[in-house]
Amino acid sequence: MPVVRRPRVCYRTFHSGAGKGCFSCPSKVGKIFLIPVERYASYDPFAWYYNRDWGAEFHSEALGALRKLAFSRLPQDARVLDLCCGTGDLTRSLAAHGYRVTGLDGSEQMLRFAREKVPDAQFILADARDFQLPPVFDAALSTYDSLNHILTFPELLAAFRNVYHALSPGGFFVFDLNMEEKFRTLWRGAHPVVEEKAVSITRAHYDPAEKIGRVDITVFRLEEHWKRCEVCVLEKCYSEEEVRSGLIEAGFCEIRVYDAQKLGMQSDIGLGRAFFFARKL
Ligand SMILES: C[S@@+](CC[C@H](N)C(=O)[O-])C[C@H]1O[C@@H](n2cnc3c(N)ncnc32)[C@H](O)[C@@H]1O
Repeated sequence: MPVVRRPRVCYRTFHSGAGKGCFSCPSKVGKIFLIPVERYASYDPFAWYYNRDWGAEFHSEALGALRKLAFSRLPQDARVLDLCCGTGDLTRSLAAHGYRVTGLDGSEQMLRFAREKVPDAQFILADARDFQLPPVFDAALSTYDSLNHILTFPELLAAFRNVYHALSPGGFFVFDLNMEEKFRTLWRGAHPVVEEKAVSITRAHYDPAEKIGRVDITVFRLEEHWKRCEVCVLEKCYSEEEVRSGLIEAGFCEIRVYDAQKLGMQSDIGLGRAFFFARKL
């Protein structure tokens, strides 16, 4: 499948006169200009730790929700895009279902683990805000609040447009987001985990005025000596209305929103989490 490969600093397209809400599809506008964006790579130093079992609880609960929202609607040999695939845990489940999977992520190190885990899948190092794939996918999925990592509405809209473009007619997009309730109730305090060869401390904070959640993660890993790595992850809290309006602006229809806990994600990981479904006509 032809893939547009870009350097580490890549470019996204803006409509001239772009202000909030003016982010436009290149095919629909005459004048385009390019603004450099840096590929999202914050997870690089943290990938080895994430890959151990960071996503295990999420995935064991989310698979039931995804079965209802996505797998039940797909033919056996469907083509599926796993957007922001991380270390490939969902990619592996999708491949085990028999789907032809393409994983895309901005972090080279996260992808390194994904490639090892699912050698038969195709992987693309790219930014969700700036990729272009041919319209061949029956579905695109994006899990574990990956799209909250996109911090502005125009950039979220760009990601929606890119997904829309990559879907075949009738294809659908399913993704989950952390919503306000999650940030307000759970994004606070410190959480240490002490193991024999690794120690991590996670500190979370939510700024309700900016609607930005911030997690600082410090990990010590014992190799010959203790090694330290620091990661800062920011997430944007979008309202359901904003997400709906972005999906509509990108061209999607049949938009539905589901509470993750009602889909069976009963633990804290499902609290304040919504799954969105949207279709390309
Ligand atoms: C919480 S992890 C989730 C990974 C995977 N979806 C899962 O379910 O385990 C978030 C992932 O999103 C990726 N990511 C965040 N923003 C991105 C962007 N703008 N473009 C590409 N990848 C991005 C990160 O590199 C990371 O791998």
